[in-house]
Amino acid sequence: MAYDRFGRHLHYLRISVTDHCNLRCLYCMPKEMSFHPNPELLQDEELLYLVKLFTTLGFDKIRLTGGEPTLRANFLELVREIGSIPEIKILTMTTNGITLARLAEPLAAAGMKRVNISLDTLDPQKFSRLTRKGRLEDVWQGIIEAERVGMVPIKINAVIVRGYNESDAVDLARLTYEHPWQIRFIEMMPFGGITDVQLNQIVTKAEVQARIESALGSLQIENDGNLDGEAQVYRLAGAKGELGFISSVTAPFCWSCTRARLTADGRLRLCLLREGEVDLLTPLRKGATADELRQLIINGLWEKPWGHKLSEGEIPLNRVMSEIGG
Ligand code: 5AD
Ligand code: SF4
Repeated sequence: MAYDRFGRHLHYLRISVTDHCNLRCLYCMPKEMSFHPNPELLQDEELLYLVKLFTTLGFDKIRLTGGEPTLRANFLELVREIGSIPEIKILTMTTNGITLARLAEPLAAAGMKRVNISLDTLDPQKFSRLTRKGRLEDVWQGIIEAERVGMVPIKINAVIVRGYNESDAVDLARLTYEHPWQIRFIEMMPFGGITDVQLNQIVTKAEVQARIESALGSLQIENDGNLDGEAQVYRLAGAKGELGFISSVTAPFCWSCTRARLTADGRLRLCLLREGEVDLLTPLRKGATADELRQLIINGLWEKPWGHKLSEGEIPLNRVMSEIGG
């Protein structure tokens, strides 16, 4: 079992399986994005080897992210391989949903249990503006198909950006009257490359909640106020689904964090909002033994930080989100 110096039990690994994406969401990437050449990224055998190593340390939950994870070559095969590791209790993924209408069924068959789908607006024009190239209809079809094949409960991630989609929070929240989905509002976080938008156009949980309550009535807290993963959960009166708030910036949830991340280029990332990383790919390629790599991981995890330092102006600049995995 892996612990850090604060006593947190770490057993949830989020893996960015590719930094590539078929969208260019303006809060995630610069317009002209350059991606890593493939040889710099973890190859299938390397990724599987590291996942198995993490399971020997007690990791039992995996989320595949990106970039857009479904763009990785041989993605279904990779899902099947990870899904068949006996120690992994739950395998999920975060996707933009564009490819799901086609892939949800084979993914479910390969062992993918659930998906979180990113969707920030229900207005096709705003969707194209925010994602710089996407078609809302593709995502919608993807959500419906994921639900049809049983990847439930469906969770939808929305980032609200000032000047783009503030009013859409209410429309998204309204979906929960009809659908048993969890619509989660994620506070925009600042990363290298596009910090102008991220710092100046953030809309906080407090504001999103106030907008929803003034339009649709007060929210009832669910789950006895306990977090569901990283989200505080609420419900609109009479709604089938739930609303979640992930207030990473204004109310971090470090005490409940059980996760570590593996970047697309094989670094162990200890916190989304802090720069600290441990290179695993270079030693792996240089022939480090399993014990040596395990020790690197254990030492890295022990130093997992607590809290971000955004209010002190410390912003993680070494990466964009798509390399780390959201
Ligand atoms: N801040 C918060 N969330 C972000 N995402 C991408 N970039 C950011 C950011 N700067 C979200 C996406 C997706 C998840 C992987 O992370 O919307 O749902
Ligand atoms: Fe792609 Fe997701 Fe980033 Fe949008 S937020 S550009 S869909 S990785």
